Amino acid sequence: MFTKQTIRDVDVKGKRVLLRADYNVPLENGKISDDYRIKQSLPTVQYLLDHGAAVIICSHLGRPSGPNDTSCSLKPVAERLSQLLKKPVTFSAELPGATVPKPGEVMLLENLRFHPEEEQNDDNFAKQLAAVADIFVQDGFGVVHRAHASTDAITRHLPSVAGLLLEKEVDTITKIMQKPQRPLVAIIGGAKIADKIDVLNKFIELADFVAIGGAMANTFLLASGVDVADSLVDKSELPVARDIIKKAEAETKERDFTFAIPRDGVVASKIDKLAPTRIVDWGAHVVADIENYPKRVPAAASHVHAHEKILDIGPFSGAFIAGGLQLANTVVWNGTMGVTETDGVQGPVGPYAHGTELIIDAMLGQFGNRPFSLVGGGDTVGYVQERGLTEAFDHVSTGGGASLELMAGRTLPGVAALRDKV
Ligand code: 3PG
Repeated sequence: MFTKQTIRDVDVKGKRVLLRADYNVPLENGKISDDYRIKQSLPTVQYLLDHGAAVIICSHLGRPSGPNDTSCSLKPVAERLSQLLKKPVTFSAELPGATVPKPGEVMLLENLRFHPEEEQNDDNFAKQLAAVADIFVQDGFGVVHRAHASTDAITRHLPSVAGLLLEKEVDTITKIMQKPQRPLVAIIGGAKIADKIDVLNKFIELADFVAIGGAMANTFLLASGVDVADSLVDKSELPVARDIIKKAEAETKERDFTFAIPRDGVVASKIDKLAPTRIVDWGAHVVADIENYPKRVPAAASHVHAHEKILDIGPFSGAFIAGGLQLANTVVWNGTMGVTETDGVQGPVGPYAHGTELIIDAMLGQFGNRPFSLVGGGDTVGYVQERGLTEAFDHVSTGGGASLELMAGRTLPGVAALRDKV
């Protein structure tokens, strides 16, 4: 499936290898709060060292305002990398010059984005980078959707092949998109529809069941006539949401396909750990019926009040998705179902994480069936990391935008530029 040459196809012994990694990791007070991307780069670094290469690693971190933006320095990454590799990692604040590592040694260069030429895909800048190396290895899956100097221009100056992480990511995601083991379930959450239009359209064509959660579900609900009151909604996205719903409805008529937007939700008047919550059942009245049985369901039970916001999917919606997962052979998950990132309520113990927790249990086989699971998206991966569940899923992607673009079927410039397999 992976059509590009990799480090296994070239002889790196005694060579200086320029390795592009994606070490764009979250930092809190100068400390790395999630080192998943660094850990995932280790097999390639270790392979190169074991095969006698001198390794010069380059990466970006964040979106620095300039070369003096020390909050975006890669120095903490050099320290963490050294701990993980159990060997010294030299840190170079400059682009590599006279001091390049010897075979078996590792050097990490300072943030590429301290130089505006990086994002400008500047050929001279790429040439400067290339000057110190014999081979270029692209392993920064998270950044290959960008055409930058270290993903695109560089490949015009050095023989360029893929690292092991890039190969694994592209291979796994492409296989699912081209020949999924059905039934295929896609669970898409997160805040903005705009980031996920293409992938939603793709899954409506490809998957057997598409479930929507997260803040973007509010926009779908409003588009389908539910009063979402004070919930976060991007009104500019309403026409897109309507088009997607129309497309999904058409698909439902054509074949065995389910498109699920939440039928109930957890609401509160503010995003606060201690704010009282209610379950509102605006769809099937199932939960509201049970809660009020044998009396009539009060109107309030199926309406979000004017001052309330929808902050998570409700138990009925969670159970519906979990039920779908009992039939699935493959699940792709991108985006949490409720508010799990806002300070004060973030993480798995937050008050709006129940929906996400329920679908995690279902994905991981707690109710019987255990589909192959692909997890993508920076925030989703952060959540899974925090839960200590990275190993439990089959593939947890290091790419956010890159994995979405690959799933949507777009060409990734940083992959396209590499040498084809002979
Ligand atoms: C990411 O975190 O998605 C990648 O590192 C790319 O970062 P960017 O969106 O700043 O280009």
